[in-house]
Amino acid sequence: RKKVTTTTFLQKKKKGQPISMLTAYDYPSALAADAARFDSILVGDSLGMVVLGYENTLPVTMQDMLHHCKAVARGASKALLIGDMPFMSYQASIDEAVRNAGRFLQEASMDAVKLEGGQERAEAIRRIVQAGIPVCGHIGLTPQSVQVFGGFKMQGKTALTAQKLLQDALALQEAGCFTLVLESIPEQLAAAITQRLEIPTIGIGAGANCDGQVLVYHDVLGLFDRFVPRFARQYANLNQQIHTALTQFREEIDSRAFPTPENSTAMQPEEWQAFSE
Ligand code: KIV
Ligand code: NA
Repeated sequence: RKKVTTTTFLQKKKKGQPISMLTAYDYPSALAADAARFDSILVGDSLGMVVLGYENTLPVTMQDMLHHCKAVARGASKALLIGDMPFMSYQASIDEAVRNAGRFLQEASMDAVKLEGGQERAEAIRRIVQAGIPVCGHIGLTPQSVQVFGGFKMQGKTALTAQKLLQDALALQEAGCFTLVLESIPEQLAAAITQRLEIPTIGIGAGANCDGQVLVYHDVLGLFDRFVPRFARQYANLNQQIHTALTQFREEIDSRAFPTPENSTAMQPEEWQAFSE
């Protein structure tokens, strides 16, 4: 399998082939996603919730993101790697946005960055792309604005807000994004945006008519029970299996059923004899 590039994304849209994306946050999850042949791995700032235990993504820092991106890069060789820019790493000024975007490629071996927002982010995106850094846009339910939305709520349900999202999508394409994540918007709106754009759309809670789909690793595998979005599908319940396995191990320590001679090493009898004298 060849390394996936931003060009591959555009070619897949032209050919009508779905683009597959999964989040990953460390070396083993990146190995697993790459082995399953996902086109792209997103090191999402959702790691703040599913890996670091925060209530939302706002506390996640550049240091957190670079740390996890480096681990993912060591595990994946074929998927296109996208690093998610954390809250306040690109909002305060365009210069800061460009410098922080650059760190994902220079220090953490990412192929591209993602940042949230529509027309208000177009200028920063234009400058990041001019610096040679591919950008994935992200509109709809943008979790870094959870305090403005007043919760994790679907966006674009009215004609007016839907129109605003379509304008955002066109502005992001014009600014140079190579792809665009549509999160938690009505399926007809996602389909309409997908049809209007030359660049591929990647949906999460945006229906079946996007050019690709992305879900959070922990949601797909049943590793995060605190909150399972309706749009996710659990392909396994690993939390259940982990609980069963760990409980059995702990019980076998308590009952001295673990370890057995197979898990242990005996000294040669003559060495033991000499030691014991
Ligand atoms: O942080 C994340 O995982 C994301 C995806 C859900 C798109 O932004
Ligand atoms: Na994110």
